[in-house]
Amino acid sequence: MARITASVYTSHVPAIGAALDLGKTHEPYWQPVFKGYEFGKRWIAERKPDVVFLVYNDHASAFSMALIPTFAIGTAASYEIADEGFGPRPVPRVEGHPELAWHIAQSVIQDDFDLTIVNEMPVDHGLTVPLSLMFGERHPERDAWPVKVIPLAVNVVQYPVPSGRRCFQLGQAIRRAVESFGPDLNVQIWGTGGMSHQLQGARAGLINREWDNRFLDRLIHEPAELAQLHALDYVREAGSEGIELVMWLIARGAMADVAGGPAPHVAQRFYHVPASNTAVGHLILENLRD
Ligand code: DHB
Ligand code: FE
Repeated sequence: MARITASVYTSHVPAIGAALDLGKTHEPYWQPVFKGYEFGKRWIAERKPDVVFLVYNDHASAFSMALIPTFAIGTAASYEIADEGFGPRPVPRVEGHPELAWHIAQSVIQDDFDLTIVNEMPVDHGLTVPLSLMFGERHPERDAWPVKVIPLAVNVVQYPVPSGRRCFQLGQAIRRAVESFGPDLNVQIWGTGGMSHQLQGARAGLINREWDNRFLDRLIHEPAELAQLHALDYVREAGSEGIELVMWLIARGAMADVAGGPAPHVAQRFYHVPASNTAVGHLILENLRD
């Protein structure tokens, strides 16, 4: 049986990708950011997931005002790296897991979540920066990512965005879907984006350390209550792009304790300001083996 063994949460700041790609990770500005991921890189090298179910948001790369799916699951065998204006990031293309992805689509849709199914979707910094942070630098031709990835693109760009509550429930359905897949697979679920940031308007540059840290506390200890938070609360407290944090609730909803299992082990917790315009947050929660 496939199992969700852990969830990983991380910001996806594009400048982090640029710092990696341009060899700037040891510069004083970036050093503390990458230091926060050293544990995660060692941890994931030991845990060796087969598949990462990667919840992220597209930033008008694959989608646009022409088409705005609320939740879009990637069922493709592979995904091209998006060109976000400076050419595609020099990282390997992303390999999918069509069999598990179609199984999850089938299960989750029959469980009343009307996902959009996508077979062609360039993936942008929202997906590639978290991969780089956890797996380190990879040559676009010589290397491959050491996992298969099932992308779930969530619309947190154009209102109306999905509620935290819906995201949390979707996570629970994803867990049921993964656990009903026959082959033994070590699956992780990642929630990405956030934490507080606002890229536009009068409050551009907003960071809210206190709110972010309370979000991390509540995500760990009382996720069902946290999921009741309204979209406007995210925008007011964490800035217009802080709404990306609802995606973390999808990953959290897929953890064992939500279905009555034991509380997860907090393997890593990290928070750092500044990174570009964003407060960087990173958590690793492990399901204890029963
Ligand atoms: C920044 C952060 C984001 O989440 C994003 O999508 C683009 C830019 C930033 O901090 O610069
Ligand atoms: Fe973003």
